[in-house]
Amino acid sequence: MGKTSYGDNEFSEFIRMAFRRHLGHDESDFEKPVIGICNTFSEINHCHSHIKPLVEAIKQGVIMEGGIPLEFPTISIGEMFTSPTTMLYRNLVAMDTEEMIKAQPIDGTVLIGGCDKMTPAQLMGAVSANKPAILFTGGPMANGEYKGKTLGACSDCRHYWQEYKAGTISETEINEINARLAPTAGHCMVMGSASTISACAEALGMMLPGAAATPATMNERMRLAKETGKAIVRLVKQNIRPAEIITERAMENAIRLLMAIGGSTNAVIHLTAIARRLGLNIDLNTFEEISRSTPIIANIRPNGKYQMEDLYYAGGIPAVLKEMAPLLNLDELTVTGMTLGENIKNVEIDPVYRDIIAPLDKPLHNSGGIAVLKGNLCPDGALIKPKAVIDKKLLKHKGKAVVFSSIQEMENRINDPDLEVTPDSILVLQNAGPVGAPGMPEAGMIPIPEKLLKMGIRDMVRISDCRMSGTAFGTVILHAAPEAAVGGPIGLIRDGDWIELDVENRKLELLVSEEELEERRQNWHPPKISAERGYTWLYQQHVLQANEGCDFDFMQDKNLNLKKRLAY
Ligand code: FES
Repeated sequence: MGKTSYGDNEFSEFIRMAFRRHLGHDESDFEKPVIGICNTFSEINHCHSHIKPLVEAIKQGVIMEGGIPLEFPTISIGEMFTSPTTMLYRNLVAMDTEEMIKAQPIDGTVLIGGCDKMTPAQLMGAVSANKPAILFTGGPMANGEYKGKTLGACSDCRHYWQEYKAGTISETEINEINARLAPTAGHCMVMGSASTISACAEALGMMLPGAAATPATMNERMRLAKETGKAIVRLVKQNIRPAEIITERAMENAIRLLMAIGGSTNAVIHLTAIARRLGLNIDLNTFEEISRSTPIIANIRPNGKYQMEDLYYAGGIPAVLKEMAPLLNLDELTVTGMTLGENIKNVEIDPVYRDIIAPLDKPLHNSGGIAVLKGNLCPDGALIKPKAVIDKKLLKHKGKAVVFSSIQEMENRINDPDLEVTPDSILVLQNAGPVGAPGMPEAGMIPIPEKLLKMGIRDMVRISDCRMSGTAFGTVILHAAPEAAVGGPIGLIRDGDWIELDVENRKLELLVSEEELEERRQNWHPPKISAERGYTWLYQQHVLQANEGCDFDFMQDKNLNLKKRLAY
């Protein structure tokens, strides 16, 4: 264990002992495994406001297994109260987490995630620090309910807001719904980004089996917290580190699970970032290849019918993994010290839950949880969730572009009664990517103009270089790369240009001649985007594009040399 440097090793040890005593420890205590508990409690991060008792339970587990638990804080960010977007700060949390794990005298760490960007940031930090680590979360909220219908944050935030704007529900009703959208402690309880990344962490082997779907309010979560405390001490004794667990084959398991649960497009960015920190050969081709060969078996919103609480009763992520076992690399090591196959060996799915987890041979859909689109509009790729499309005829569609050059301009004009837009138009949002926004906010589910909502329109083709929440839905094409702000073709689109989408053939084409595009390229000027100082300056100078995981270029594995996989 490294010591504070004073140029005198014995003095460093002497002074460190004084301050151990200052904390109430004696000499022999530090011969035990020292377990850092990365406590992300925050009263501002709504999804982490309940985690203090879970931290205490983890501590108990650590002590029961013979370790010393020491809590430490890192940055904690929640989706709803972080401006302009938590994604701007994911890399900052990852750096904070990595450096605190490396700098402090701890042998292993339990990371407490939950809200969307916390969990991927912690995984990124943990793999770069590469000390034994286990991820735990505050867990998803329990189901909400309104007039006999299940409510889910935040798919229903969007669904009912759209209905309110269309005039089909009243102000009283929208206020009553608002009061019930987030009914318990925990993170969003549909298969949004938070639940998706937790689920992927189980498939990666970085979280104890069952921890992703167990609701925040269940006694079982306290037991899992205690078990996590015990497991990290064993992991330290076995010296099993994240780089041994997160291999290319483990990453394939996580991506396959992502597709089988119809998970969030945000997970593509986060898993790519984690993989690139380890120099793994994972890129958008990997996601497309695995998506095409993975049936969707979890019937969870926003793609399906149920929520995380229902999935918990059906057996949680271990049950999903068990069902898809023939598609997995079962010999991959996990934080239990056993393989993925050993972890799920005794899992059984009761037939009463077969509407929640479908059999592999009778899936909900044969493939295509997330599709990777290519074309002259997005040479480095764009994503769509085909099963979250409401109006299926839009999966193959040709329409004229209605272009917004920024999020602000979109907000100002989208409901202008004079906006020239029809249900067949394609809404395009530019300059909302990693550099342009900055931070690639979740504005990709461009609102349907109110005048079309009132005509009964609930879905349109929408294209942007930003993201959408994992809880969102519709014919929404995201992550177009390269983004507009760095000269990507999405920035060259003009009002009235024809665009053709063909999801089946994975195509997204701007139907403008190459000569015309070249002329526009010559006349293109980068928008004024640069922050003049501070973290946002650093971010805009160094953030990578969506297809590269939006990490900082200087944080990736320095020997990264991605090979091309499939040409599709
Ligand atoms: Fe934290 Fe949805 S707001 S997960």
